[in-house]
Amino acid sequence: MEYAVVADKLVKYYGDFMAVKGISFKVKKGEIFGFLGPNGAGKTTTVRMLCGLARIDGGRAFIYNFDVAKETTKVKKVIGVVPDISNLYMELSCFDNLVFCAEMYGVPRSERKKRAIELLEFFGLSDKKNAKFKTLSKGLKRRLVIAAALVHNPKLLFLDEPTIGLDVKSKRQIWRLIHELNKKGITIFLTTHNIYEAFRVCDRIAIINKGRIIAEGTPTELRAMVSSNKVIELQVHPPIRDPRVFSKIPGVAGVRIGQDTIRIMVNDVIIALEAILKIIKESNREIVVLNLMGADAEDIFVKIIDKDREFERTKRVE
Ligand SMILES: Nc1ncnc2c1ncn2[C@@H]1O[C@H](COP(=O)(O)OP(=O)(O)OP(=O)(O)O)[C@@H](O)[C@H]1O
Ligand SMILES: [Mg+2]
Repeated sequence: MEYAVVADKLVKYYGDFMAVKGISFKVKKGEIFGFLGPNGAGKTTTVRMLCGLARIDGGRAFIYNFDVAKETTKVKKVIGVVPDISNLYMELSCFDNLVFCAEMYGVPRSERKKRAIELLEFFGLSDKKNAKFKTLSKGLKRRLVIAAALVHNPKLLFLDEPTIGLDVKSKRQIWRLIHELNKKGITIFLTTHNIYEAFRVCDRIAIINKGRIIAEGTPTELRAMVSSNKVIELQVHPPIRDPRVFSKIPGVAGVRIGQDTIRIMVNDVIIALEAILKIIKESNREIVVLNLMGADAEDIFVKIIDKDREFERTKRVE
C-alpha cells in the first residue's frame, strides 16, 4: 500500500525547546486522518513540517512518496493547505480571491475562472461571488478558505483546526463538506483539539500530547482501549471541587470535575461505588444526581492523557 503521508521520527526544535519529539505515523490514501491533541501539543508544527513550510530538524517525511525536505515543489503540487489563520484578502471578492490563489498555484490562465466558479458552487457560495471576503460571516469565510486550498485539485488536503471558533451549525456544514471532498477521493489530514470532531469525522486518529503520539487507532479501537470503563456521574451538595477526593479510590480510572457534576470513570463499578458513597456520607453531603453511563470520547481522551502522565512519572523514577 502506498501512503499519502509517511512521517518517520519527525523532530522540531524552537531554540532549545523540542516541540515535536520524534513522531512516526502513516496516513493511508483516501482516508480522513485526525491529528488530535490539546493546545500546544505540536499539531500545527507537524503540519507545517509536512507541508514544507517549516524546516524538519530530525527524521523524514514523505507525501505521496516525495521526500518533503528534498522535493518540496513536487509536494506542494499534490497538497492543499488550510492554515489555522486565514490567508485570503479582505478587500478582494470571493471570486477574485480564488482566481488569485489559482494564479499563485500555477493553474493555467484559461482554467482559473472556471475553477473559481466550480468551487464557489461546490461550497454553496455562488451568490457571494462578488462579495468582498471581509463581508462574509465566519462560517462562510472558513468555507472560502477551504475552497482556496483546492484551486489546483490537490490529492491531499491539510486542515488545521478547520472549525475552531464556529457555531454548531457552521461546524456541521464544514464536517459535511469534508466528507464530500473525501468522497471525491481527496485524502484529508485534519488537526483538532475537539474530541467530538475527531471521533465524528475521522476514519483514524492519532492523539498527540506534548510533542509525542500517545495513542493511535480508529474511533472504535480507541473506544475499545477503555471499553470496560463505565462512568459514574455524580452531583452532590455541597459540591466537591477537588478530584483527588476520588482519584485514590480502588476501581477508579479517572475523574473529571465539571460545572455541576463530577464524572468518575471506573473499571469496577461495585467497588468504586461503595467507596464513593462512603466518602459522601462521611463528609455529610447529599446526593443530588447519580447516574451510571458508558465512557464518552472526552473520558477516553482524558484517560489516555492520564496514562501518558503516569508513564512519564514512572520513566523519571527509573
Ligand atoms: N514559532 C515558535 N517559536 C517558539 N515556540 C513555538 C513556536 N511555535 C510553536 N511553539 C511552541 O511549540 C509547541 C507546539 O506548538 P503548536 O503550535 O505546534 O501546537 P498546536 O498543537 O498546534 O497547538 P494549538 O492547539 O494551540 O494550535 C508549543 O509549546 C508552542 O508554544
Ligand atoms: Mg495549532
